[in-house]
Amino acid sequence: AAAEKDGYEHFMLKEIHEQPKAVRDTLNSLVKDGKITLEETGLTDDMLRQVSRVDIVACGSAWHVGMASQYVIEDLVKVPVRVELASEYRYRSIPVAPDTLVIVISQSGETADSLAALRVAKERGAMTLAVVNVIGSTIAREADHTLYTLAGPEIAVATTKAYSAQLIAMDVLAVKMAAVKEQITEEQVAGFLEALNAIPEQIGRVLEEKQRLQWFSSKIANTHDIFFIGRGLDYAISLEGSLKMKEISYIHSEAYAAGELKHGTISLIEQNTLVIGVLTQGSLFEKTLSNMLECKSRGAYLMGVTTNGNFSVEDSVNFTVYVPKTDEHFIASLAIVPLQLLGYYTSVNRGLDVDKPRNLAKSVTVE
Ligand code: G6P
Repeated sequence: AAAEKDGYEHFMLKEIHEQPKAVRDTLNSLVKDGKITLEETGLTDDMLRQVSRVDIVACGSAWHVGMASQYVIEDLVKVPVRVELASEYRYRSIPVAPDTLVIVISQSGETADSLAALRVAKERGAMTLAVVNVIGSTIAREADHTLYTLAGPEIAVATTKAYSAQLIAMDVLAVKMAAVKEQITEEQVAGFLEALNAIPEQIGRVLEEKQRLQWFSSKIANTHDIFFIGRGLDYAISLEGSLKMKEISYIHSEAYAAGELKHGTISLIEQNTLVIGVLTQGSLFEKTLSNMLECKSRGAYLMGVTTNGNFSVEDSVNFTVYVPKTDEHFIASLAIVPLQLLGYYTSVNRGLDVDKPRNLAKSVTVE
């Protein structure tokens, strides 16, 4: 099996490095000659124009993609979005209408709860779209419409490239919906596509920073608790960063919306507790930074993830990682990469089974 890893020590590290290609391939399938084409999904412009509400349903990291996408869709398309865990959605009676688009996101296309949620949404009369990686999987077959991500086979239990392919697919969908609903101009569409087109190469540049993350992970290998905080899209990034850390390093970690800290979590901060702040959204930057400082004054050790140019972060944050700038809507694709690497190297430093963490499965077909 060593050969299949292409010289990488683990599948997870290989798949982290395959992200530029996964994102590029997915983009190329959805954008042709500078135009977004969803033809293969069967979704027409007319159908998208009619959508008045979007419900996103998924599990695990795919749910985190939904959490990130809601901000992008709300902001660009101006329709209400709700994001639900499939294991909750299926047992609730959330009303839907024919102009509700229910999007089920799933790498495997076989997750039992996501499949059940899809069936419930169909029964209730919603229009359904599956965003799926595995071709011909059950969720892909049963949805009214299917958009395939082209991440290729993913072996490591902790998802990386499939998550990134899902994110970019959802970004393209948001831009397309905003365009057909005339919420953005053709010039804006061109600008967004230009930004999206640069993402694969920019992910490559973040990967070049891996030695710094490797070094930092060796310092935190014996930490007991990590808190990831952020607001808005940065909160969604925090959720996935925290999951990458805990699922493979077995270090307890939680993600909180930064503004909620003072309503309970801050009592958990002790001397040297690691607090990782995600600071990519200009309008939320000062707010989250001040929440980080509240933690620091109670003893926390601070790491920050921000965009190039925000060098003032270093005045107060102990360790900072910079990612290239892009349109703020799309920054999750870049900001998640250092957090994937941090989880990966922490697991390696602790001598754990990176690709097959205990108690977890790649595809969960039980309820
Ligand atoms: C499992 C995997 C996660 C994944 C989740 C949803 O728990 O370990 O990485 O995010 O299932 O899987 P899906 O195939 O539906 O995306």
